[in-house]
Amino acid sequence: MSKEIFEQPEVLANTLEGRLASLSILRASFGENALQMFGQIKQIQIVACGTSYHAGLVAKCWIEKFANLPVDVQFASEISSKEAYISKFDLVLAVTQSGETYDTLQSVKLAKKAGARVFTITNVKDSAITKISDYVFYTKCGFEIGVASTKCFTSQLGALLLLSIYLSTARNMLNKEKRKEVLNNLRKIPDYMENYLTNNLEKIKRIAKKYYRTKSMLFLGKGYNFPIALEAALKLKEISYIYAEGYASGEMKHGPIALIDKKMPTVVIAPNDNNNKKIMSNAQEINAREGKIILLTPESSNELANHTISIPDHIEDYLLPFITILPLQLLSYYIALFKGNDIDQPRNLAKTVTVE
Ligand code: G6P
Repeated sequence: MSKEIFEQPEVLANTLEGRLASLSILRASFGENALQMFGQIKQIQIVACGTSYHAGLVAKCWIEKFANLPVDVQFASEISSKEAYISKFDLVLAVTQSGETYDTLQSVKLAKKAGARVFTITNVKDSAITKISDYVFYTKCGFEIGVASTKCFTSQLGALLLLSIYLSTARNMLNKEKRKEVLNNLRKIPDYMENYLTNNLEKIKRIAKKYYRTKSMLFLGKGYNFPIALEAALKLKEISYIYAEGYASGEMKHGPIALIDKKMPTVVIAPNDNNNKKIMSNAQEINAREGKIILLTPESSNELANHTISIPDHIEDYLLPFITILPLQLLSYYIALFKGNDIDQPRNLAKTVTVE
């Protein structure tokens, strides 16, 4: 898992390679027919499981921002177990690393039956889902061994942001200048990730050492970082067996605040964006109840925080998920390591779930 965490800058560069240069190249990577189809659809239904579901939640923010299209993100298991409402004007976007997950496969079958078009983002060539999808886009992230997904997640994000940009172009929602700007910003992300991973490791290890005996941990985020809070909690559960919850920070007062006491550590993702004030007021509420705060912030220190983990403030808010996930993957990794767990083969989990 550690190797795969550190491979992420290279893996994202692979996903983006040859796909950023121009509109015609983008068109070729999605297939000529996709442009026309993208212009016709009325809404997108993303179906996925586990980590891929969290990538889908980030994609919802991107597609709504750039393409102004309504997006629903559903657990594939929910779609496949009921009479789902899918119309032939929908685009069903399946996100699946393996392309073999049973529930995702079933939901794609249901979508096809309803006459919807299916676009799949996957890593595995000729996997079961690719054979019944209308469009397939490969993440090209190489073979992932760790059961807890890391590099496949960031490559899914890369593929989904490209898709969002292309969708918005097809729908005349993004002019040439803005498209160039977004693609140029995205091009710089693998280098930022590389720097981030080299510069922040020691601090994260120290924090992990302090908290590896905790019984539970809460992760709060807002906007683009709400799905990152969910994914961070999933990573911690998967490999450390510590009970963890990810929450939209604004929802804290509707329940999770009852959990806060001296022993409870909360990770608060607080970038310097439009949401900062609101998120810091959540941190204030935790601090007032003597909860421990690990704050992801561009500031070098903060009076509310017991620990800070630095995040850049020069990156556009919509690109931050590529960075904010890194310290949280590492935090889970080191917590599990200090507990002496088998990180690559966590108990009770399978890399690919091909049964219902
Ligand atoms: C399993 C894996 C997860 C993965 C999920 C969905 O539960 O342990 O890491 O996110 O399946 O897999 P998929 O291949 O569809 O992305």
